[in-house]
Amino acid sequence: MSRNLRAGVIGLGWAGQQHLDGYQRAAGVDLVGLAGMEPEPLQRLADEYGIEHRYADWADLVKDADLDVVSVCTPPSLHAPITVAALEAGINVLSEKPMALDAASARTMVDAAKANGKILDISFNHRRKAEVTAAKDLIDKGLLGDIYYAKAGWMRHNGIPGGVGNWFSRKATSGGGPLMDIGVHMLDMALHLMGEPSVQTVTASTYAAFGPRGRGRGQYGAGAHGAAEPVDFEVEDLATAFVRMDNGATLLLESSWAQGVGHDDMYVTLFGTEGGAELTWNPPAPQLRAWTTIDGVDASLNPQLGLSGGHAEAVADFVAAVRDHNLDGHQGEEALTRSLIVDATYHSAAESTEIRLSPAPPQPAGQDAVVRTAG
Ligand SMILES: NC(=O)c1ccc[n+]([C@@H]2O[C@H](COP(=O)([O-])OP(=O)(O)OC[C@H]3O[C@@H](n4cnc5c(N)ncnc54)[C@H](O)[C@@H]3O)[C@@H](O)[C@H]2O)c1
Repeated sequence: MSRNLRAGVIGLGWAGQQHLDGYQRAAGVDLVGLAGMEPEPLQRLADEYGIEHRYADWADLVKDADLDVVSVCTPPSLHAPITVAALEAGINVLSEKPMALDAASARTMVDAAKANGKILDISFNHRRKAEVTAAKDLIDKGLLGDIYYAKAGWMRHNGIPGGVGNWFSRKATSGGGPLMDIGVHMLDMALHLMGEPSVQTVTASTYAAFGPRGRGRGQYGAGAHGAAEPVDFEVEDLATAFVRMDNGATLLLESSWAQGVGHDDMYVTLFGTEGGAELTWNPPAPQLRAWTTIDGVDASLNPQLGLSGGHAEAVADFVAAVRDHNLDGHQGEEALTRSLIVDATYHSAAESTEIRLSPAPPQPAGQDAVVRTAG
């Protein structure tokens, strides 16, 4: 029998705690290392999970703890530097979303995984919700036909994380606002359900209507840091994008931390040649409604939902890929496509123009199309 994997987690906030829980539940894993800059939660969580090696700085964990696997649960600005360092040290990485500050940094992570023959997964836990799994099953069975149009959104009413002032609203640490924070989950779900079509163009706008005025704060993501000193609100508080695929399908994507409609709304709507589906995660309960056509007759479907998954399943899949040394689909390529679309969204909004991702325009070696387009 092979020995247990030695696991470490970097980051002590909500995300880090989900990963700790995931490793504790995973078979054949010993949690041996934890890093984070807040002394009290570092000791408390390490005690709770029986973790021996404790560090303030992630670099010491990567260097000294003799890890096989590590989770990166820090602000996005550190995802690429930590991931590349860990992969180069021979450690497999499960990073939180968004993959990185931008697509160029995300690509360094994929390159490092490939150069070192290691696993790199990104935690897109929301696609493991029961409604998504069931809808995917309907699509795979052909009941909705070809999906030619989709809408996906996570629109918070008053949900600027941690209030204005922590890393979420600083561009250098977060890379962006709700698109980077929650929009990427909806983008991931939509592309997953649409069958991973390749993206041709992105046309987008972003707004900062509430954040800069100190409005729209919520209870989300108060974080390991607790309340922080106010800083300028440097990111968008609403982003909307129209995404056209190579196969002709389109996606309307929206995300907000703050907007004036007096409730939150989280949804994916799918329009197929043989039916459609509405997935919603709003009070009082998540819902999947789906329709098909049988011999020209409209029919409602009543799919049975399994249990919703989340971080524990993301950790378990990552651990299984490491155990099996299954590099196929586990070196960050799919997450990189999300980063390219996010980059294109911000560039389109900044330049008030459509950004073309495919076919890629000619470019100097080593540069991403959207990076070049941004000039
Ligand atoms: N997938 C999800 O559902 C989900 C949910 C929440 C957050 N996230 C993501 O997880 C990440 C962390 O979010 P959070 O809300 O837990 O943040 P947080 O602010 O609560 O925690 C961040 C942690 O990173 C640590 N850190 C920062 N610099 C460090 C360094 N040099 N060395 C060691 N540790 C360092 C901090 O000490 C802190 O413990 C973000 O990328 C966020 O987008 C994902």
